[in-house]
Amino acid sequence: MKRTRPVIAIDGPVGAGKSTVARELARALGFTYLNTGAMYRAVAVALRDAGVKADAPGVEKRVESVLQSVHVEIDGERITLNGRDISNIISDPEVSDLASRFSALAPVRARMRELQRAAGEKGGVVMEGRDIGTAVFPDAEFKFYLDAQVEVRAERRWAELRKKGVAADRGEVLSQLIERDRRDTARELAPLRRADDAIVIDTTGLSITEVVEELRTRVRSRSAV
Ligand code: DC
Repeated sequence: MKRTRPVIAIDGPVGAGKSTVARELARALGFTYLNTGAMYRAVAVALRDAGVKADAPGVEKRVESVLQSVHVEIDGERITLNGRDISNIISDPEVSDLASRFSALAPVRARMRELQRAAGEKGGVVMEGRDIGTAVFPDAEFKFYLDAQVEVRAERRWAELRKKGVAADRGEVLSQLIERDRRDTARELAPLRRADDAIVIDTTGLSITEVVEELRTRVRSRSAV
């Protein structure tokens, strides 16, 4: 389908600044913002609550059956799972870890890809995650890959957790971040990687505003948005 407005894909590791930048960019362009990590987190909560263990033998069958009764809605910062508001728990480090583990499973990825494609097919969307430019919208009009030095990313993640009232140890945040990136990069299905045609932005020394400006300029230079 020919889109009248572009799809903007933003991928990258933990703490690269994707969420804030994607949200701000969407606001500046009047586009919809979709945080696909939040979708994986919501599904992880549903699977955890159903007693599913990501590494159990034959887990795919269980996951498929639980997924049939999972309904996730995202409205700005509010995220509901089967009508229950789970906005406050999806940032928990335990949920981050589970989201990363469950996201390696084929039925989870297939379902998320389907929902994400449906949400973005008409364009006018900024979608951020790990595989948007490579697997969900390989034909996205714009692809960005944000990255930053690992210590800087860990510091951002730590500050973000603190802001949300989650007490966390800096060293632990760093080691969890390294482990999650390792798992997200090493998995077999749609692993985190830069699409060959993605523009890489190192956000290490940049403010959110600077990154948003950089992306906005690049989008405007090639599109009438
Ligand atoms: O962006 P985030 O940290 O909220 O994502 C949580 C986990 O979800 C991440 O560790 C891996 C998974 N994820 C994914 O596999 N693909 C995406 N497009 C987004 C997130």
